[in-house]
Amino acid sequence: MSRSFTIAVLPGDGIGPEVMDQALRVLDALASRDNLSFNYQHALVGGAAIDATGQALPPETVRCCEQADAILFGSVGGPKWEKLPPAEQPERAALLPLRKHFGLFANLRPGVCHPALASSSPIRPDLVEGGFDVLCVRELTGGLYFGQPKSRTTLPDGDIEVIDTMVYKKSEIARIGHVAFQAAMQRRKLVTSVDKANVLTNSVLWRETMIEVAAQYPEVTLQHLYVDNAAMQLIKAPRSFDVMVTENLFGDILSDEMAMIAGSLGMLASASLGKPRGDGLYFGLFEPSGGTAPDIAGKGIANPIAQILSAALLLRFSLGLEAQAKAIEDAVKAVIEAGLRTGDIDSGAAGTRRVNTREMGDAVIAALKA
Ligand code: IPM
Ligand code: MG
Repeated sequence: MSRSFTIAVLPGDGIGPEVMDQALRVLDALASRDNLSFNYQHALVGGAAIDATGQALPPETVRCCEQADAILFGSVGGPKWEKLPPAEQPERAALLPLRKHFGLFANLRPGVCHPALASSSPIRPDLVEGGFDVLCVRELTGGLYFGQPKSRTTLPDGDIEVIDTMVYKKSEIARIGHVAFQAAMQRRKLVTSVDKANVLTNSVLWRETMIEVAAQYPEVTLQHLYVDNAAMQLIKAPRSFDVMVTENLFGDILSDEMAMIAGSLGMLASASLGKPRGDGLYFGLFEPSGGTAPDIAGKGIANPIAQILSAALLLRFSLGLEAQAKAIEDAVKAVIEAGLRTGDIDSGAAGTRRVNTREMGDAVIAALKA
């Protein structure tokens, strides 16, 4: 009998549906190879859901996710919905509430620069030669994204005042700290905690708490960087990082920087996880870290690798299919080594060949079967 899993599939907008198609084809290839059964429950989200139902996150979509083992998410937003009031736009009205609803506080973003992609990195080749591998652990349900009050007020004198509030509890900092240290135990045992403790009260507590958490992991080295310095060190010495842990907004910014240095945002997968379930696995939402790329949407040329690698993370963290997760990651590595390149990672280097979204999917599938 085949093992069966339910995956909520939320392609969303822009390139979301195109890259999602390839991720599902890869999962199907794996299912037939390894006698597994993936039951996909498709649901509307983001702009696509606004157009069809008037709501960016319809209650049916939330129910569909609740009934699944995990969520495979594409991306949401685009020019068509930018004129809506900010609180109704796809990003704020769909993605953030989904993260909050499922308590997905831990966002893991593996910034891997494959040696064969060093020439796609915008930074000096000697800085990324041989590749690098940084894991960004971003706190995802606190900080400025969710803190109250959040407001916009017209003052009596006609001026306008806006407020976003940065709120963290010590317990929230500690739990993301543990995620980072546990990850570091499986890696090179270095945690870099990024804060702004020279200015923010939030960051002072962040730093104190990271030091307390570190005491429980004597094998792991903890270092602290201010966020401005971290932005600089990432570009100056990306190989000096192992695990980077930081709060929500800093992680949003630094993970884009990390992805670009690694070659392209189109390569950066992510896992957003809540508390572990009893069996050691997690309910999670798995999504590429890049956006909907409206400029290339519908052309069939987007890089599907971030979505495919997000599916691999789903297999690992939510379904416990480590061998299959690894098989996808190895297949992606093989096609990169074979020289296949979508536009975003095509530096025109010798021995490489430009492919479109579907051809990249085909190649990953072929490598999986090889
Ligand atoms: C990301 C994205 C989102 C975020 C946006 C779309 C709300 O940039 O996942 O990094 O800021 O978290
Ligand atoms: Mg972002």
